[in-house]
Amino acid sequence: MDRFFLFSLLIIGLASASFVRADFSAEDPLIRQVVSEEDGDDDPLLNADHHFSLFKSKFGKSYDTEEEHDYRFSVFKANLRRAKRHQLLDPSAVHGVTKFSDLTPKEFRRTFHGVHKSRAKKLKLRLPADANKAPILPTDNLPTDFDWRDHGAVTGVKNQGSCGSCWSFSTTGALEGAHFLATGELVSLSEQQLVDCDHMCDPEERDACDAGCNGGLMTTAYEYALTAGGLERESDYPYTGTDGTCKFDKNKVVASVANFSVVSLDEDQIAANLVKHGPLSVGINAVFMQTYIGGVSCPYICSKNLDHGVLLVGYGSAGYAPIRLKNKPYWIIKNSWGENWGEEGYYKICRGRDVCGVDSMVSTVTAANTVKH
Ligand SMILES: *[C@@H]1O[C@H](CO)[C@@H](O)[C@H](O)[C@H]1NC(C)=O
Repeated sequence: MDRFFLFSLLIIGLASASFVRADFSAEDPLIRQVVSEEDGDDDPLLNADHHFSLFKSKFGKSYDTEEEHDYRFSVFKANLRRAKRHQLLDPSAVHGVTKFSDLTPKEFRRTFHGVHKSRAKKLKLRLPADANKAPILPTDNLPTDFDWRDHGAVTGVKNQGSCGSCWSFSTTGALEGAHFLATGELVSLSEQQLVDCDHMCDPEERDACDAGCNGGLMTTAYEYALTAGGLERESDYPYTGTDGTCKFDKNKVVASVANFSVVSLDEDQIAANLVKHGPLSVGINAVFMQTYIGGVSCPYICSKNLDHGVLLVGYGSAGYAPIRLKNKPYWIIKNSWGENWGEEGYYKICRGRDVCGVDSMVSTVTAANTVKH
């Protein structure tokens, strides 16, 4: 694998030799990329016009002016090249055209993520007042495969839209699971309550606070839910995807937090906490997610700067991967970019070496038994 790794780097460095073949077909607007060391006609910009048309119709994109259209086409082309680079760096996943293919990486980060990078870094030092360290759990009898979706603890995939509110979806997902474990009832919870009402700050940094569409953190959001009394139902406080004034009604609380804990950077402990306490909030670096289509993402190089909050719902022991990389164990991640992204809204990332920082900011919440409304 080392040789392959160096080889890939060399290829990327030279940006020349043909290694990945983009197979464009009219029925399938995605670039289905397969490894092929012989073919030379693999220019990712081949038929770019055609693919931009398919992209626009598939995702209902329209642009107000011709200038905007032309600019977005140039961004789209750059993203075709980027998808090809991602494919080389991440051969056990499939990368190609996604609904984010007309956004620059910077726009994508600003609009669709929502974890404060600098705050995520500092989180290791300072946690909200009520955060515990999760006790070490036994790990000897863990199942080889586990998925909370099979046990009814996960609501459908939601969509944060153009709002950096990922952190609120990660928070509701964890509390939805914890509430299910405490009461046997799966209730979809309100992200908008967190977006509008949670302005909880870092304990020692008053200007680093949960800030709706401008980002936040899951642990401070648990702290908010704990002090506010809980969260309302999604249907009682629906998502708008914009910052609004707080309309929280304490009488409508349906799920509340008993306590929350931070899990150590140890994959067995993460798995044990997942199985025992329900889906976990995790931070991740989302750079490979802009071009992700499916498979197990396991990039050779990925920043551990956490910029996106998601929900860990399960794990598998042997995901699909090319022969060379078979039997790759992975985490199953619920994302908040709608069902028309990734594998029906889900992402698989390999386990084993804190890839993209996925193991480094993990938290678990326990729900109080709340009176049903
Ligand atoms: C968290 O709350 C649950 C339910 O009330 C309780 O059983 C558990 O001991 C608490 N954990 C911590 C770390 O306080």
